[in-house]
Amino acid sequence: MYASFRSIGAFIPQTVRTNQWFVDRMDTSDEWITKRTGISERRIALKEQHTSDLGTEAAKIAINRASIEKEEIDLIICATISPDYLCMPSTACIIADKLGIKNVMALDISAACTGFVYALSVAKAFIESGMKKNVLIIGAEKLSSIVDYTDRTTCMLFGDGAGAAIISMTDKKEDAIIDVQCSSDGGLKDLLLTPGIQSEEASFMQMKGNETFKVAVRTLTSDVRLILERNKMTNDDIDLFIPHQANYRIIKAVGDALNFKEEQKVVTVNKYGNTSSASIPMAINKCYEDGTLKSGEVILLDAFGGGLTWGSALVKFMGK
Ligand code: UT7
Repeated sequence: MYASFRSIGAFIPQTVRTNQWFVDRMDTSDEWITKRTGISERRIALKEQHTSDLGTEAAKIAINRASIEKEEIDLIICATISPDYLCMPSTACIIADKLGIKNVMALDISAACTGFVYALSVAKAFIESGMKKNVLIIGAEKLSSIVDYTDRTTCMLFGDGAGAAIISMTDKKEDAIIDVQCSSDGGLKDLLLTPGIQSEEASFMQMKGNETFKVAVRTLTSDVRLILERNKMTNDDIDLFIPHQANYRIIKAVGDALNFKEEQKVVTVNKYGNTSSASIPMAINKCYEDGTLKSGEVILLDAFGGGLTWGSALVKFMGK
């Protein structure tokens, strides 16, 4: 049994927040934000929209594009760091309910910006073991609810959004996800965290940007080398390189170190900012919708985030 990446979908909130919004409220400039991050705008969910709402909309599109009935889904995994509720219920359970899928196994994954790659890894394992046949994986974030808008060094980076995919069982090896690998180092937890119940402070995200930047470049680069080598593949075997969208300078540094051509590198951070677990599926969806990504092509996913966590995936995209 093999696991196949069968469809992609995304939900992009309508409200655009440009750099000017931050310039009007704090000591910063459009020039600084654009030069240091590559971000010119991000999307913000409505007050009444929760992470599960964004995830549900993305999931509906992925289910529709996979041409399966929602009842055929036997596992739902939602990667998020901005869940609807603290601790419980999981956002995956709420999404299952909003989709009208009953009696399904549903769980959240907490791996920050690497969450979608972690979810992909779990889906692949469940399918290859024969335990599940159709897994809905989602990366959904309402980061505007956990961003500290008094901290000018982090708040301009993040946006809201969601992406989802259907991973299905197949007996065709040529349609299979090639490989996924995930890692972590909790020793570096202080670089990026939300203090939550350990602190009197509100549960806003805190980041040591400069140090995080350096570890991000290092792990994103080594991740790709590892997975390509393990599968005896080279850059020429990759149609699209889709890294986590945290900062254009990180994408450029990693892309250059790995010698990817301009046309192989996918960049969405300029329009969506950093949407954590949603950044990679939103980027895959953009390529699918604008026709850059076609069925049968090979994409290389490369993620990094709080934990610290990191991971990469070699995926044959089988969306129709
Ligand atoms: O998705 C999870 C992973 N996340 C990441 O990988 C993000 C990694 N980090 C980054 O993207 C970058 O480190 C930032 C964009 C957060 C910051 O860029 P930087 O080039 O590392 O800047 P810095 O922190 O070294 O700060 C440089 C200067 C400082 O001023 P001084 O000390 O040189 O006078 C900051 O106070 O820029 C100042 N600064 C700002 N100036 C205007 C920091 N934030 C701002 C701001 N506007 N918003």
